[in-house]
Amino acid sequence: MENLSISKPYLLNADDLTFNDINSIFALADYYIENYKPGVKFDDLKGLTVAMAFFENSTRTKLSFDLAAKRLSGDTLSFQSASSSLKKGESLIDTLRTIEAMGVQMYVIRHNCSGVPDFLQANTHGAIINAGDGKHEHPTQALLDSYTLRRHFGDVKGLKICIIGDILHSRVARSNITVLKTLGADVKLCTPGTLFPRRMNYWNIDIIEDLNDAIEWCDVALVLRLQRERMESGLLPTIREFSNYYGVNLEHFNKKPELVLLHPGPVNYGVELDYNVSLHPNVLIQTQVTHGVFTRMALLALIARNMRSNNLF
Ligand code: CP
Repeated sequence: MENLSISKPYLLNADDLTFNDINSIFALADYYIENYKPGVKFDDLKGLTVAMAFFENSTRTKLSFDLAAKRLSGDTLSFQSASSSLKKGESLIDTLRTIEAMGVQMYVIRHNCSGVPDFLQANTHGAIINAGDGKHEHPTQALLDSYTLRRHFGDVKGLKICIIGDILHSRVARSNITVLKTLGADVKLCTPGTLFPRRMNYWNIDIIEDLNDAIEWCDVALVLRLQRERMESGLLPTIREFSNYYGVNLEHFNKKPELVLLHPGPVNYGVELDYNVSLHPNVLIQTQVTHGVFTRMALLALIARNMRSNNLF
C-alpha cells in the first residue's frame, strides 16, 4: 500500500484525478474494506484535523467523510453555517482563515455556489475536498459510484452506462462523466431536452431520447435525483409527466433482469424511481453508501500522504 499515491494535495474537480490516481484510491479502498474491523482504527490521519464545512444539506457525504476521518484516527470539526458568524456578516475567506488558525489541515466543503472549493483552495495552505458545489461537481460521489461498479463487475472499462434524468442540475452527472470516461466506460445520457445543458456536449456524448431504448442499450442505469430545489419553473410540464417518461420502474427490470442500477441518493420515490425498484437485488444504492466511507477514507489518506511528502504541514 506504501506505493500508492495521488498527484494533487486536494480534490476540487473530477479531472484533478488521473487514471492512476483513481486506481490508487480504489486499491487503498480495497485494503480498508478487507482490513477494517469495528473498533480498529488506521493511523493515516493521526495528528491531523479535518473540518466538515457544509453550507448545504447532506446526510451521506457529510456523515461518511466524518466517519472516514475518524476511522483513520483524524480529529474532526463540524462547522455549522446556519449558526456561525457568517450570519453576522463574516466573509467566507475570513471563516476559512479563522478555522485554519485553529490548526485544521483539511476541509471538506459543500456549497450551493459552483466554484467555491476552487476559490477556497486558492486562499489556504490546507487541502480542500469538494463535497459538492452547486450544479458543478461532486467528485467523491463519482469515485464511489465507479468503485461500486468496479467491485460489482470487476472492471469499469467497456461498461455501457446510461445517466438518466435531470442532467441540467446534476453535479453528480458532470463528475461521473469525467471519471467514467477516464476509466474507459461507454457513457450515454437519457434526459428530456429541457433538462440537458447544451454546452455540455463538448464531451460529445450521445443522448438516447427514449428510456426503453436507453435501458435496452446499457449495462448500468445511473439514475439521478430530480433536483426540484434548483429548478426554475417551466422546465417540466408536470412531475407526473417526467415520471411517466423518465421514471424507472419494475417493468424495466422485468424486461431486463440483469440491469444494474445506481442512484446517488436521496431518492424521490415515484418520480425518478419506483419504491419497489429500490428493493431489487441489482439496485446498489445501499452498497454505494457503504463504499462511500471506504473510498473517502482512501482519498483522505492519499491526500494526507501527498501533503506530507510535499511538506505542506
Ligand atoms: N449523494 C449525496 O451527495 O447525498 P447527500 O446530499 O445526502 O450527501
